[in-house]
Amino acid sequence: MSHIINIFLNMITGKYPSLRLRRSRKYDWSRRLIEENSLSPNDFILPIFLIEGKSKKQEIKSMPDVYRYSIDNLTKIIDKAIKNGLPMIALFPYTEKNKKNDLGTEALNEDNLVCRAIQYIKKKYKNEIGIMCDVALDPYTSHGHDGLLKSNYILNDETIKVLIDQSLLQAQMGCDVLAPSDMMDGRIGEIRKALDKNNYQMIQILSYAVKYASSFYGPFRDAVGSKGLLKGDKKNYQMDFRNENEALREVALDIKEGADMIMVKPGMPYLDIIKVVKENFKIPVIAYQVSGEYSLLTNSINRGLIDKKAVLESLISFKRAGANAIVSYYADRLSLILK
Ligand code: PBG
Repeated sequence: MSHIINIFLNMITGKYPSLRLRRSRKYDWSRRLIEENSLSPNDFILPIFLIEGKSKKQEIKSMPDVYRYSIDNLTKIIDKAIKNGLPMIALFPYTEKNKKNDLGTEALNEDNLVCRAIQYIKKKYKNEIGIMCDVALDPYTSHGHDGLLKSNYILNDETIKVLIDQSLLQAQMGCDVLAPSDMMDGRIGEIRKALDKNNYQMIQILSYAVKYASSFYGPFRDAVGSKGLLKGDKKNYQMDFRNENEALREVALDIKEGADMIMVKPGMPYLDIIKVVKENFKIPVIAYQVSGEYSLLTNSINRGLIDKKAVLESLISFKRAGANAIVSYYADRLSLILK
């Protein structure tokens, strides 16, 4: 196979000295003319961290230039997102310790922070921007896991029951896209069934189908207040980072169960996975440039170790791999990055 490709390449390209690939790289106009990938605001989902209280814009230690916003302050960031043409935001609540317990019951409180934020945003902005919410229990459990814990194991079917209720609640509040990030087996099908039965046929599901048990999530756990709480690790439900075939099986199942879009997470260390998922399934694929990737890049830029153009380079890599869009903590500063 590869020698056939070689023959083909020789036929169509000729060779040096008549052929010089640097010719097309000489001027900026020429480079722009033959560019194969580009970014637009449509390619971004902006994550927003929520916090209780009034007029808060709170720094997050482990994520420079990313903040937690109180609900009354959300207009600051959402007005700008809409003006810049972003299609969607993703909401993540910082949960106070006293609201966490073993079962994560705060997830089902219809007056919880996420529920109030969804209602506020929907009322104010209607359908000017999409609202996406995680379906998982980790912001609400005292042990930091995404589901119900028993003898050091996350229960599957019992967790799904709670996730269904969490999904229906968020749908009822006005969430447009539910994003199960829990990695339980079979939850996409069960959530889809429950949504349809309750007249939420038009609510989309963005499945975190390929979510690896990763060390790159550290700063996020600080941002949502579950840092230091996690008992053990998430390896009995999130994927083993040595595996690719397993990723394809996860995606195939979630598509069958009714996923509208597929998330691959983390991002940069998994560009190969984005590419095989896109090539095999032709479904919308979203890449998540996670908190650890963000902080690594940002800290290196802030220390002057690398130029800030590295951000653009990292984001383009997702497009080259085949992602339709990127969840990125840089999405509120696109004008700095895209120029
Ligand atoms: C929770 C969730 C996590 C992230 C998004 N949803 C953390 C985890 O699974 O531990 C990570 C996002 C990031 O690191 O930016 N289910």
